[in-house]
Amino acid sequence: MRILCVCLGNICRSPTAEGVLRHRLREAGLGEDVDVESAGTGGWHVGHRPDERASAAASARGITLESRAQRFEVDHFDDFDLILAMDRQNLADMRALAPHADAEGKLRILREWDPEARGDSDLDVPDPYYGGEQGFEDVLDMIERSCDALVEEILATRFPGSRD
Ligand code: 4NP
Repeated sequence: MRILCVCLGNICRSPTAEGVLRHRLREAGLGEDVDVESAGTGGWHVGHRPDERASAAASARGITLESRAQRFEVDHFDDFDLILAMDRQNLADMRALAPHADAEGKLRILREWDPEARGDSDLDVPDPYYGGEQGFEDVLDMIERSCDALVEEILATRFPGSRD
């Protein structure tokens, strides 16, 4: 299985989601079964390492961010099984690029899995880029909660029996 995490710049939120999801999948014993990457709908930071504030916040929780920014491309619809938008704008931007219904069906918003967001109409992971350090902590909280639930679902639906 292949999962792509997508935000705007691919230096704050989606590298964080990539790092957290990969870490949790390894802990669940699925490190070899599920590949995780990230991308941005904007191209300004292509080739860049994650924002230092995002890396520092993740590192304090034991998670290393390993990505280099890449831009989201139409080919990614073929390369990935599940494409996780960090906010509604990312989702809309990718939906506009989807070549067919199959591709569009791979698009989801990450906080659909956030147990604390149930019933909220706002499922965005807010962009922390122009804010302070607390924004990066809030982003991590949302991403960790969502990824925990997502990994549980992947275990139950794609790898039943893997915990026997
Ligand atoms: P991200 O944050 O989408 O979470 O990576 C941003 C980083 C950079 C920019 C926008 C958002 N930017 O405009 O450069």
